[in-house]
Amino acid sequence: MHYPAVIAIDGPAGAGKSTLGALLAARLGYLYFDTGVMYRALTLVALRAGLDLHDRAAVEDLATRVVIEVAPPTQDDGRPYTVLADGDDVSWPIRSPEVERHVSLVAGYPGVRRELVRQQQVIGQRGRVVMVGRDIGTVVMPGADLKIFLQASLDERARRRANEVRDLPDPPPVTQVRENLARRDDLDHHVMHAASDAVVFSTDDLSPEEEVAWIMAYLARQG
Ligand code: DC
Repeated sequence: MHYPAVIAIDGPAGAGKSTLGALLAARLGYLYFDTGVMYRALTLVALRAGLDLHDRAAVEDLATRVVIEVAPPTQDDGRPYTVLADGDDVSWPIRSPEVERHVSLVAGYPGVRRELVRQQQVIGQRGRVVMVGRDIGTVVMPGADLKIFLQASLDERARRRANEVRDLPDPPPVTQVRENLARRDDLDHHVMHAASDAVVFSTDDLSPEEEVAWIMAYLARQG
């Protein structure tokens, strides 16, 4: 059985990309690479450095200097992988609400995208990788042998996200989660569309295990 060297998974926030990507990578013995962490890590470093995030040139310059690494988990604390920025472990801080609020602005700068896409391509070209993001099938790895674009309704994505954070001390109501997702859809819109040769899934009705089963059957049919 010949499996694709690169599997690209794109789609909006909350569509279930990370769950599917991690499951599929584990199933195939591939590296799971969530490219969103690079935009998040850069945003965190910029915030910590006290940079004005509206200063596009400064943020773009920082993107060429920060060394972002994604490695297998170095601690057994539930993290799917370890993220290092200039050697600092930022695996949890990149998930903070502050980063969440600013990351779309940073990810919108062309110089930032140019630099991070280049770095992502280096990792993608090594092969045996499931890459998850917004523009993997269209920009980062347009030659990927299998491209998946996940869709889910805003209501379903909001329900899932609210469920994920319901154990936090002060969980946001589903209406607020829904508003945040709608805002991010708007901001991320410019980089996100399905490649013409992508398999498009609606995850409203499928569980992640069913998606993996579908993909494995699809790959078997492709030979
Ligand atoms: O998937 P995520 O929520 O971790 O993504 C964080 C941000 O990075 C989000 O604003 C979209 C952006 N992003 C991007 O522009 N391109 C990618 N390949 C991955 C993420």
